[in-house]
Amino acid sequence: MKKIALLLIGLTFTMQAQTQSTDYLKKAKELVSKMTLEEKASLCSGETAWSTQAIKRLGIPSIFMTDGPHGLRKAEGFDFTNSVPSTCFPTASSLASSWDPKLAQKMGEALGIEAQANDVQIVLGPGVNMKRSPLGGRNFEYFSEDPILAGKIAISFINGVQSQGVGTSMKHFAANSQEFERMSNNSVVDERTLNEIYFPAFEMAVKEAQPWTVMCSYNRFNGIYASENPYLLHQMLKEKWGLKGFVVSDWGAVNERAAGVAAGLHLEMPSSGGANNLKVIAAVKNGTLSESRLDEIITELVAVTLKAKDSHKKGIVVNKVKHHELARQISGECIVLLKNDNAILPLQSQLKKIAIIGDFAKTPRYQGAGSSQVRPTQIANALEELQKLAKGIQFSFSSGYTPAGDTDAAKIAEAVQNAKEADVAIVFAGLPDIYESEGYDRKNIDMPEGHNQLIAEVAKVNKNVIVVLMNGAAVSMPWKNDVKAIVEAYLGGQAGGGAVADVLTGKVNPSGKLSETFPARTEDTPTATDFPSKDGTATYGEGVFIGYRYYDKKKIEPNFPFGYGLSYTTFQYSDIKASSTNAKDSDAITISFKVKNTGAVAGKEITELYVHEQDSDVARPENELKHFEKINLLPGEEKTVSFQLNSRDFAYYNTKIHDWTVRSGKFDIRVGGSSRNLPLQQTITIENTKPIKVNFTRDSMVKEIKNTPQGEVIVNQLIQGFIGTSNKLETEEDKKTAAFFAAMFGDLPINKFILLSGGKFTEDNMNAILTAINKN
Ligand code: BGC
Repeated sequence: MKKIALLLIGLTFTMQAQTQSTDYLKKAKELVSKMTLEEKASLCSGETAWSTQAIKRLGIPSIFMTDGPHGLRKAEGFDFTNSVPSTCFPTASSLASSWDPKLAQKMGEALGIEAQANDVQIVLGPGVNMKRSPLGGRNFEYFSEDPILAGKIAISFINGVQSQGVGTSMKHFAANSQEFERMSNNSVVDERTLNEIYFPAFEMAVKEAQPWTVMCSYNRFNGIYASENPYLLHQMLKEKWGLKGFVVSDWGAVNERAAGVAAGLHLEMPSSGGANNLKVIAAVKNGTLSESRLDEIITELVAVTLKAKDSHKKGIVVNKVKHHELARQISGECIVLLKNDNAILPLQSQLKKIAIIGDFAKTPRYQGAGSSQVRPTQIANALEELQKLAKGIQFSFSSGYTPAGDTDAAKIAEAVQNAKEADVAIVFAGLPDIYESEGYDRKNIDMPEGHNQLIAEVAKVNKNVIVVLMNGAAVSMPWKNDVKAIVEAYLGGQAGGGAVADVLTGKVNPSGKLSETFPARTEDTPTATDFPSKDGTATYGEGVFIGYRYYDKKKIEPNFPFGYGLSYTTFQYSDIKASSTNAKDSDAITISFKVKNTGAVAGKEITELYVHEQDSDVARPENELKHFEKINLLPGEEKTVSFQLNSRDFAYYNTKIHDWTVRSGKFDIRVGGSSRNLPLQQTITIENTKPIKVNFTRDSMVKEIKNTPQGEVIVNQLIQGFIGTSNKLETEEDKKTAAFFAAMFGDLPINKFILLSGGKFTEDNMNAILTAINKN
């Protein structure tokens, strides 16, 4: 009963939302019909750096947009540091490490509330680009190297913000994975890689969460700027995925504005001061842009504008303390425990003296630089928070390195002395501000020498070293084997210091897992030979093999694999079951398994399900993440987790039909707690029930023709004719020769026989064969 009632509420809500958007579209259409060409063109570009153009005469309001993904940066102009104070939440790479869409929803809701309180209609985020390389300058602003994880977190984040009547702008579409020459670089990506890696997070979020806007990226995409790319903006976003909202340019991404309108770019930001509007008017007048296309674009833009303004709630006041607490809770769920030898963590209350080493303990690194930079309402540091939580322990602080991360002999000497006198030394290290920012990429995955050297020296004098890392992306760890514990705190937002103290003291049991691989060396990374690409073209030659897909295929041992993270308790996986082990590609298959908390404390486990195709037509990754769920377990408690798999979970993107294909064959379903620890496996046989209708042409290969019902006979005759044997293939020798040529000619386009058969096989013979096989 309850379920039905909920379903009905859901249905009514969806219907209301649909009616609303149809109403806004209707209203927008009426308004556009009353506009002059000049007025229409005026809407194609913003009014200021952050707001859209109003038309007072028609009652069309201006709406306000603000960065960014992990907090509100309502700025005047472009001064990143001078914005209204707002809660700085953990950045995207941190949030994704929670693997918890519900948490992303909560963060989105809080952001929506802060946007309402500041009269902001659209929050410019989330960023869902894939981490093609760990060196990407904006990796801290992106969720993952895996599209399903990024997509699921994005959906919830968007739903959270939009549930408050505030829009989002999912960015940066598309294939925008390097900062170097980001405004002109050409990303060259093949169709399969796009559909399997770079599109899905965008696709999932458009289909399931309908962001009010999508932001196109700066780069060229397969030769054409994203801001005027009809394939990206119209074919994919609008036609294929059904985006209802509008597309906005990244700030300054417009090349030719009229071409952008034609392609499906609704809004240029920031304002081009009227210059580009004149170009739109001229294009309509000279017939290179049809006015009806302009009308369509403006109508969709105005519809969102009207909805956004109507959704504004007056009198919202932010409870800053509550949001700070929420930021702390979120950050705590995102921290990843990478190493914990001898269960050195959580800190034991009988410890007497702990050396706290490293400037980040007092002055945390908590967010990245660039357009997403928030002015926090307060900042918590780990040293003070630890002192509050562990009152019986004496903490002594040494800064250890310079604010820029440089080595300072005197500071190291002091830190070493401090560590010598303590039971445990906790070193706070990572990446200083300058190491990762919008606008440029990292040069390598190494931390500053000052940090690495400090850890190495401290580890020489104290056996109980715990390293806490504050960084937005993967780093190398040359001291990995010399320390007892490693806590990846990421860029945890303004309350991150508190969250670190919660985890170190055991108030919070760590439950994050890596949303990206931590490779051992820069040279091991998928794009090591050419990242960032420097000659104007970034060729995504590694194809679908980024992140763990690459390390698995190449059998490269990373420092810590994708999906990895420890807890203060342990979990045991068992009893994998499939609803069917012999299924058709159209069947939904339920996979269930059990997870038990086998330790002494309550904890959360992120369960991960990967699919592996045993024998595929194309090069496929060893394992691909398809489903995950974070579950809470008391000591001794066991729960059953189940996932429903559908055809897309088994499919690869088939460029021959420009669609997804599930090949008949065997698939291994692998389940566990990290991409490199999948103790459960169940094999399923799937049958393809949608044979692909191929149109055979003169370029079709002999082996393709052989796969048709009459193929075997046709190909045998072709080969016999060619080698001049009798068509009975009587002797063993004849059979052997025919088999040899069949294998050798398999890859030959059929038309080549005309050239090679010395006149025996003609154009007419070929056409007759093609007509016969195309009939089926
Ligand atoms: C960034 C966007 C951001 C915009 C507005 C651009 O430089 O790429 O992510 O939303 O500026 O600040």
